[in-house]
Amino acid sequence: MVDATAPEERRNLSNPEDCSREARRILQDNDRGGYTVPSPALYPFQWNWDSCFVALGWATFDEARAWQEIESLFNAQWPDGMVPHIAFHREDSGYFPGPDVWGTESLWDGSLAVQTSGISDPPVAASIALKLWRGARDRDQAQAAAERLYPKLLAWHRWFHSARDPQSDGMVAILHPWESGRDNSPDWDAALNPVPTDGLPPFERRDLDRIDADQRPRHDQYNRYLSLILSLKGAGYEPKAAYDASPFKMVDIGTLSILRRADRDLRHLAEDLGHKDDLAELQDWEARGDAALDRLWDEQAGVFRSYDLSAEAMSDSATSASFLPLYAGNPGPERTARLVEVLQRWTERTAYPLPSFDPGDSRFDRLRYWRGPTWGIVNYMIAEGLSENGHGEWAARLARSTADLVRQSGFWEYFDPISGRGLGGDRFTWTAAMWLAWAKHFAED
Ligand code: GLC
Repeated sequence: MVDATAPEERRNLSNPEDCSREARRILQDNDRGGYTVPSPALYPFQWNWDSCFVALGWATFDEARAWQEIESLFNAQWPDGMVPHIAFHREDSGYFPGPDVWGTESLWDGSLAVQTSGISDPPVAASIALKLWRGARDRDQAQAAAERLYPKLLAWHRWFHSARDPQSDGMVAILHPWESGRDNSPDWDAALNPVPTDGLPPFERRDLDRIDADQRPRHDQYNRYLSLILSLKGAGYEPKAAYDASPFKMVDIGTLSILRRADRDLRHLAEDLGHKDDLAELQDWEARGDAALDRLWDEQAGVFRSYDLSAEAMSDSATSASFLPLYAGNPGPERTARLVEVLQRWTERTAYPLPSFDPGDSRFDRLRYWRGPTWGIVNYMIAEGLSENGHGEWAARLARSTADLVRQSGFWEYFDPISGRGLGGDRFTWTAAMWLAWAKHFAED
């Protein structure tokens, strides 16, 4: 398989200063002028939540570029408020499914500024924007950027709370596993089973040209991913028609938690900027989010789970997203303590936490994408939640684990939680950003 960095060019990453230099270089190398691609060969476009995390990395050495990263993402926003998970700013045949498959070009009378996918992504943008805003050194620049972004963020959140929660009970749905950002998590296995795959047009995956098949989703899953896209496209991506037509409707505990925190952070931004008229609406969303999170607690297992709205059943998996309600806000001391017990069990089995899936489950796969490996961005969010809920020691442990992974193996997309080996794409942008914005502060001598 192709390794983006020839061994002789590899920096010595055991020294934190060298790591930071290399991380900045990765951001600069993957910069396409206003937006950063996650990995030039594997993911050659702008990805939604990647760009938000990456903005935190830019902010450590170029604040203007950090704001630009988020603003370029919102240039791809749809008129109904949806912010797509991919913005195809330029042509590149190296990725499947490209814009021809999504077929969004003719939507909105062809008025979209950029070609895009037709699904969304976990809405971390408001939480990242609040961090940039509160930490900004250039206040005038921050004021102008935050004012421009605020109405766009609000429109996106409104889209989630209407298009994806038609009952208005807080059970906000995703209609495709990719909307969770955790593409092939075992969370989706049961819900994907009934998705029809007959009569699909032939297609060629491009990811396997670059990455070993044992680190990527299986073919039967890819068939279902494509089938779901075609069902949404068949509904013209019209929110109600798409929701009704989709055979896949999950309340993802990850997306729900991220949205819950983002609603709160958007309210803080509204307060800071003086948008008082929006506060009641934002508070209403927060209350609905709390009610939905409460429904997803599994008292017996001591974790939160995702929920399949079509089958009316809880997911049978505990994944790294089961801990994201800590990031959402405050699950309360008892539930927090139960979550920490599970965290303890998982870390006893993995030298480099946090695995994306329960290492005690027979389906655990230490190499395969979201079915076992450790991801820096997930560690970052869970660590934020742990430290805000009185578990600073655990937060530091996840940060140190992330720093160790980078220093030992490099800036990989994800890592084997048992050996620490780097997996997926190398010189990966969000891993570099997480080093700069967070993990480097916990690197030990
Ligand atoms: C994969 C990941 C997703 C990420 C994208 C680009 O699809 O599952 O979370 O946004 O790659 O890095």
